[in-house]
Amino acid sequence: MIEELELIKQKCLKCEKCALSKTRTNVVFSSGIPNHKMVLVGEAPGYWEDQKGEPFVGKAGQLLDKIFECVGLSRKNDVYICNTIKCRPPENRDPLPDEKTACKEYLDAQLEILKPKIILICGRVALNTFLPDKGGITKVRGQWFDGPYGSKMMPIFHPSYLLRNDSREKGSPKWLMWQDIKEIKRVYDTIDI
Ligand code: URA
Repeated sequence: MIEELELIKQKCLKCEKCALSKTRTNVVFSSGIPNHKMVLVGEAPGYWEDQKGEPFVGKAGQLLDKIFECVGLSRKNDVYICNTIKCRPPENRDPLPDEKTACKEYLDAQLEILKPKIILICGRVALNTFLPDKGGITKVRGQWFDGPYGSKMMPIFHPSYLLRNDSREKGSPKWLMWQDIKEIKRVYDTIDI
């Protein structure tokens, strides 16, 4: 598994299939120990991710660490993290359709190699990639869907969205995220690999 992923990573690091290869500082391939239990797919690298070559290392990433920690999951050991596209779009704009298409082979390969039991679809852009016809993230977050390779997929709010919505009151985005992460941990604990 690790060797196969490394081959894809090496190909991805040299990729020039779309124009983002001209503006990137680093390709952002993944973080976390490769495993068959849980993968989180985010949107695209931002400024800090592009600088460091690692996903979710900015403010949103720090919040993501805390969310996993709250239920006793380690972001490094328990979740393999990647993005729908591997290079930063300028000014953090949404990825363009041709950029997503060009990059899809890498995400597909990551999932095919890992065949994770749980896929967390983090935010609107990732939701559009996996479940384009199901409605917006507010409607579908917290629900389980059938995913590739027999996985269960759950859309969750993107941590950047949570950073913009500070309330923790019942029904608020942070409160909903807390419900979702508890459900994710419940299912995670039932997986026996
Ligand atoms: N937001 C994402 O969706 N992915 C990252 O890697 C960083 C921020």
